[in-house]
Amino acid sequence: MPELIGKPMDRVDGRLKVTGRAPYAYEHQVPNAVYATLVMSTIANGRIVSIDTRAAQRTSGVLLVMTHLNAPKLPQLQSQAKKPPTGRIVQVLQDNLVRYANQPIGVVLAESLEAAMEGAHLVEVKYAAEQPHLELEPRLSQAVAPEKVGGAQDPAVTHRGDAQAGMAESDVRIDHVYSTPFEVHNPMEPHATIAVWDAPDHLTLYDATQGVFTDRERVAQLFGLEPQNVHVISPYIGGGFGSKGPVWSHVILAAMAAKQVNRPVKLAVTRPQMFGMLGFRSQTRQALAAGANHDGSLTALTHETICHTSTFEEFVESASLPSRMLYAAPNNSTSHKLIRSDIGTPSFMRAPGEAPGTYGLEAAMDELAYELKMDPLEFRLKNYADTDPEKKLPWSSKSLRECYRQGAERFGWSKRSPEPRSMRQGNALIGWGMATAEYPTRRSPSSASARLNADGTFSVDAGTQDLGTGPYTIMTQIAADSFGVPPDRVKFRLGDTLLPQTPVSGGSQTAASTGSAVYLAAQALREKLIQMAISDPQSPLSAVSSQDVVIENGRLFSRSNPSKGETFQSLLARRGQPHVEAQANAKPGAEKERYSMYAFGAQFAEVHVDADLGHIKVARMTACFGAGRILNAKTAHSQFMGGMVWGISMALYEGAATDYRLGRWVNNNLAEYHVPTNADVGKIDVLWVNEKDDHINPIGAKGIGEIGITGATAAIANAVFHATGKRVRDLPITLDKIIA
Ligand code: MOS
Repeated sequence: MPELIGKPMDRVDGRLKVTGRAPYAYEHQVPNAVYATLVMSTIANGRIVSIDTRAAQRTSGVLLVMTHLNAPKLPQLQSQAKKPPTGRIVQVLQDNLVRYANQPIGVVLAESLEAAMEGAHLVEVKYAAEQPHLELEPRLSQAVAPEKVGGAQDPAVTHRGDAQAGMAESDVRIDHVYSTPFEVHNPMEPHATIAVWDAPDHLTLYDATQGVFTDRERVAQLFGLEPQNVHVISPYIGGGFGSKGPVWSHVILAAMAAKQVNRPVKLAVTRPQMFGMLGFRSQTRQALAAGANHDGSLTALTHETICHTSTFEEFVESASLPSRMLYAAPNNSTSHKLIRSDIGTPSFMRAPGEAPGTYGLEAAMDELAYELKMDPLEFRLKNYADTDPEKKLPWSSKSLRECYRQGAERFGWSKRSPEPRSMRQGNALIGWGMATAEYPTRRSPSSASARLNADGTFSVDAGTQDLGTGPYTIMTQIAADSFGVPPDRVKFRLGDTLLPQTPVSGGSQTAASTGSAVYLAAQALREKLIQMAISDPQSPLSAVSSQDVVIENGRLFSRSNPSKGETFQSLLARRGQPHVEAQANAKPGAEKERYSMYAFGAQFAEVHVDADLGHIKVARMTACFGAGRILNAKTAHSQFMGGMVWGISMALYEGAATDYRLGRWVNNNLAEYHVPTNADVGKIDVLWVNEKDDHINPIGAKGIGEIGITGATAAIANAVFHATGKRVRDLPITLDKIIA
């Protein structure tokens, strides 16, 4: 059988999804369910003076209106300081304080969704409002450095060499501020939870979550339950992009409400309610300075990021991280600072840190290349880091040179005319820009099990999640390859805390972590089956050496004498066993101390800018990535492309529009929160290098969920400058900024 791993196999869950038979969290059928609707704060800072629920209570079908006045107390909330890393401090009706706009302040429970919504509209709230503060620029003096960034792994501030001296000795330098707006994830499927108390101390949750086990841990903690008494089920997710990583307030509220009415509760967050309490990307203010010698070699690079956090919790958008490792600058300083604002806590959003950070860094590198009158790609090659300049470690693998070469060749970069405004087609100013992509390679401990069934099919289990990105499919491929069977003989299950324990699907780590566990479990079962055959006197393979056994098309046979062999079914039938099973744990080893592990890529963009109106269109993009072993050419292509489209979005469209007087985001819907439509996306060309990396994990995959967006934004922003000669350093680059 040809090797399945890497093949462009169709999604195994594709048919279920397009026929509407894949149940998302809210669609699970639970008898006797009650519908919940959230009531949200309309102010961003202050307290509730009174809350009148009488009219809501009188609404036909309404069972209960839960507010801070009658909600059960959660004593375990005092231990929020001990929350797990993916936990967040929740607002679950424990006091009358309003900390941000769109904070949940009530839950209406009714026999129908309509009654619950009507009741929610009838709740009358009086506030004592205070002036909210959500702006960065006027409050820069309040910024303070946190200790750690990037999931509490990396220091917030670093120095290498002497950046000031390096700047002083440079021939050419730049010093600019780049800013990015608040951005809200907006997955297709809004967050939703069904909470069922099966017993006073046992809770089942159908939840749209990126981490069934982290969900279980956090919920158990807040309700004082044993983790094994919380069962989380999440077989299908309509996108997450980081927003479904932590456990947010609505999950806890659904479980609290279900306890109050002693019935299952269904709670779906509405689109407008998603703007505030479920995480978002903070605004960033990135000050970048860089100096170089006339020959283009960097003498110094500094990157200082200031972003928001909430008034009650710290989260850092770690945008300065790329400037530590991407270029061989001998002198380097980076920092992150936070300003407390009257907002919900910002959170992980696809390529947290790296997405805005590679925008700032790669726009600055473009500016310095122009100052040097050097081709932007040449300039990057001149400063190529052959080892990690920060960690002083070799790369586990790095194909960035090859990515630059292949990407540039496919794009036709050598035909670029260097002068801004020098390429034109009719009324369209043509611009070409490029940038570097990078994302860390991570993994966490994960486990999986594999089982041969009597009918010759295989069941493979891991608790993990599929956000819509492909784990169902790639895990099936990995397992089927080990067993030498066609993929339709393998049934892979995920999204359930009753299955083997796995980490959260974040940080692009699912393929590397759980893919490795699935691989090891499948290999262990394969080995077990071979041993069973050769040690069984009745098997035709009896006494054949294990190295001589080949498995193909569901049959074990001797390589040297293929007529000697048997099927999995006969092997199992003779033993009278219903199935044979193997388990495996995969966990990181010492590779992190020996290597610096990243995926890299090169992004190229062509924009057409209307010379009169300033309207920008991304006509085409080419990117080439080096991301280890690619497990499925089709889902990988979609992942990379999706990231690049998000880069278009970040460059030209996205941003939550803030009313700073009221502390509210006013475009809290998909009509006004702009993301690109098909008409906004030109041709997207995705390439990758076949990169072999034996150091990172057993399957050699680096993870591709996030790298696609990195560098994409800067490539487009740099193309806009090349087209127009106008440098906009404030995202999104809208036409008003071009014609201003
Ligand atoms: Mo990703 S933003 O780490 O889910």
